[in-house]
Amino acid sequence: MQKPRCIAIAVMTLDGKIARHHHHFTDWSSPEDKQFLREFLKRTDVIVAGHNTHEIAAKELAQYNRIVLTTSVVTTERRDEKLLLSNPETVDVKTLFEPYKLVGILGGMDTYTYFLERDLLDELYLTIEPIIFGRGLPLFESTRDVLAKFRLESTKQLNEKGTLLLHYKKTVASAKILENEGRYVTNAL
Ligand SMILES: NC(=O)c1ccc[n+]([C@@H]2O[C@H](COP(=O)([O-])OP(=O)(O)OC[C@H]3O[C@@H](n4cnc5c(N)ncnc54)[C@H](OP(=O)(O)O)[C@@H]3O)[C@@H](O)[C@H]2O)c1
Repeated sequence: MQKPRCIAIAVMTLDGKIARHHHHFTDWSSPEDKQFLREFLKRTDVIVAGHNTHEIAAKELAQYNRIVLTTSVVTTERRDEKLLLSNPETVDVKTLFEPYKLVGILGGMDTYTYFLERDLLDELYLTIEPIIFGRGLPLFESTRDVLAKFRLESTKQLNEKGTLLLHYKKTVASAKILENEGRYVTNAL
């Protein structure tokens, strides 16, 4: 069976922030980025979002097949035909992807970090909006050192003000945890 492809999508500021705080709605991205996000979501077989992101955008996401990460369930719990809650502390989330070809990782920071730390990010679509928050949530916030390498596949300017869409693919097969040092490193680069 073909391995599901996990593709993360995120929009960030020039200073690398994806939100001001954990409950900040993404109403600051450009219409062109929102359009790209909608097209991307339509292509996915399932999307994965953290509890906070899902709560904030529940209405917009309701039409999509979703897996929501939350510790509020013991293992997994199906809420309706399109919504599965899953606890990443007790369930290996990637086993849930087996029926799917394209898994869209919608964030936020905790969820992107979960995928990064487990070497589950195959591709990344990153939109850079030409604004600055000064402080806020970064794309990833790991408690350990990670080294995951990507290659730039394409760039596209989405509008006149210079919103950039970058597409990256992972360059290596896997990332290893150096147990003793508590660090992650990637294999043969
Ligand atoms: N700019 C962008 O592209 C973008 C994309 C998505 C989201 N966002 C923004 O990001 C912010 C939310 O980010 P966030 O960091 O709070 O992350 P999040 O991943 O949306 O939600 C975090 C919550 O999800 C559950 N969770 C996620 N990963 C987990 C793990 N490894 N282990 C256990 N539980 C886990 C926990 O829920 P429980 O507390 O229920 O256990 C945790 O409190 C919002 O402001 C949202 O608008 C921005």
